[in-house]
Amino acid sequence: MRMNDQIHFCPPARVVIGCGSRHQLPALLARLGYRSGVLVTDTYFSGSTPWVREYIDAAAALGIKTIVFDGGLPDPTTTLCDDATRIVRAHLGGNTPDHVIALGGGSNIDLAKAMCVTLPEGRPVDDFKSAMPAAPHALPLIALPTTAGTGSEATPGAILIDPENATKIAVMDNVLRPVIALIDPEYTYTCPPRVTADSGIDALTHAVESYLTLDSFDFSRDGHPDPGYSGRSALTMLFAREAIDLCARHLLRCYHDGSDQEARVGMAYASHYAALSYGSAGLNAVHGTAYAVAGLTHKTHGSTNAVMLPYVLDALRETRAEEMVTLARLFGIADADEARAARRLPAVIRALVAELGIPANLREFGIAEEELPRLTEDALAVTRLARAFPVADVPAAYARIVRRAWDGVLDADTEADTEADVVADVEADSEDRTGR
Ligand SMILES: NC(=O)c1ccc[n+]([C@@H]2O[C@H](COP(=O)([O-])OP(=O)(O)OC[C@H]3O[C@@H](n4cnc5c(N)ncnc54)[C@H](O)[C@@H]3O)[C@@H](O)[C@H]2O)c1
Repeated sequence: MRMNDQIHFCPPARVVIGCGSRHQLPALLARLGYRSGVLVTDTYFSGSTPWVREYIDAAAALGIKTIVFDGGLPDPTTTLCDDATRIVRAHLGGNTPDHVIALGGGSNIDLAKAMCVTLPEGRPVDDFKSAMPAAPHALPLIALPTTAGTGSEATPGAILIDPENATKIAVMDNVLRPVIALIDPEYTYTCPPRVTADSGIDALTHAVESYLTLDSFDFSRDGHPDPGYSGRSALTMLFAREAIDLCARHLLRCYHDGSDQEARVGMAYASHYAALSYGSAGLNAVHGTAYAVAGLTHKTHGSTNAVMLPYVLDALRETRAEEMVTLARLFGIADADEARAARRLPAVIRALVAELGIPANLREFGIAEEELPRLTEDALAVTRLARAFPVADVPAAYARIVRRAWDGVLDADTEADTEADVVADVEADSEDRTGR
């Protein structure tokens, strides 16, 4: 308990988790009275897995009709959303579906989420991008994540790319939160290593960032009676801590061996627990700077988070000293000296990022030195994230983080007892985590 917490926690109404749990879905939807759905996915799932056919047939046997839209693409654009809306409405022939199902990674879930507001009237998604009308009408969404992951199955936002200026826009409201999040870890068994790494580091970032973010009692809700994000609390931190522990144990394992089912299940839980944390607490500087990095490089969401995470952690050693020690322990850093343990945490995370095959500094990520001021400016422009970074001078902190991320320098590199000590420690921790 924390006496000052001001909790506004918005989980999905039903969370179903378990290997093979996908087979429960048709009966659950029939019991809830759903009769006419739209399943949003991509051609990988409709063409290379039995999951779409299996679901359609089992649901039809229970009287649920489903239209399949399998035109989902990674990082969906507003244009894709509007095209998909038009195509599906033409199929519906004037009828309105009573639910939408998303099958896929964060991209398909976000596309489906946005379609929950565009399908009823066929309006362009642009109409919903900044300020949602009060209590907008949204179709109920059932999310079936196949990556571990973005956690979009538990968040209020859909992230789409505006092709006009290549920036990401958010369609956001608590009415967009899925009513059912069904996490069947078996869906993730087919993820290739690159998708496993990118989505797994995304889950870790969600957990770490929300564990360290602004407290709920300091978080400005701007008078909103139903805020999507409202700062960290004992409740969100509970889920974040568990998610970080699960990531520390399982992320590298399932990256190195995709057939390690225990590790896959561990990451499926980690991803959802991280979402139960950040989906109410919110995020800050890692995502803020990562959005700007993505704007310049068009690299994946997970990898842009990964490259920034160690440097943002480094900037929080003073304001989040105690929490950093907790995280260091979860990553097996055993130094008796707590300050040293906290200082080593960002270096251990940087080693993890590198082991996942992701560049561990902005230079190697393809950012030119002269782009750093613009990158900092773009990151600060995402004010809802900048405001939640728990340091006194956010612009100065962002500028330093970006500079050090480009140089690839952490405090542990310059303040360590000796550089050789740190390298040896990081290698030892990496071996502990992977069990190799
Ligand atoms: N709304 C939110 O709260 C939120 C949060 C974080 C990220 N996002 C968004 O999520 C997107 C990234 O999602 P992602 O990391 O899950 O990847 P993704 O959905 O973009 O999928 C990447 C690729 O992996 C494939 N894939 C997915 N699952 C697979 C499986 N089980 N087997 C084989 N292939 C599979 C997909 O077909 C796709 O080609 C970004 O657009 C990001 O902006 C949204």
